[in-house]
Amino acid sequence: MATNRTFTMIKPTAVKNGHSGAILAQIQAAGFRIVAMKKTQLTIAAAGQFYAVHKERPFYGELVEFMSSGPIIAAILEKDNAVADFRTLIGATNPADAAEGTIRAKYATSIGENAVHGSDSDENATIESEFHFAGTEQF
Ligand code: RTP
Ligand code: MG
Repeated sequence: MATNRTFTMIKPTAVKNGHSGAILAQIQAAGFRIVAMKKTQLTIAAAGQFYAVHKERPFYGELVEFMSSGPIIAAILEKDNAVADFRTLIGATNPADAAEGTIRAKYATSIGENAVHGSDSDENATIESEFHFAGTEQF
């Protein structure tokens, strides 16, 4: 059910630094079930489309360049209250403000390179999941 799902990406720096396994373990330990998952690399065009909502923000160009700079891990996650609980698990956008023990507090290197993405609403979770996965890739 869409209302119980969220979408995440482990961002390029966290993948490159070898944190994917630890991050996925923390996600599963928090009670999320993996519905779909893949390692992939976004083109500049795909990253631009994914983050189109931020097109007018000053960091948009940097964000698109970073998110297409190396492989990511994309996943759909399922749990009661998935969107809100996942944002609690990852912590604040700026790792300096992220609560102790959160994924961003542990693995982010800066506000831009902040380890993971998490959907901000049920509606965007559905849009972002469909952006990356066909129905036949979701279990
Ligand atoms: P995300 O979408 O990646 O889960 O992050 P978020 O909701 O916590 O933050 P959002 O406002 O949606 O921003 C998206 C991503 O843009 C980068 N950012 N850089 N340099 C900056 O001031 C700045 N602000 C945001 C971050 O990578 C953020 O996750
Ligand atoms: Mg966001």
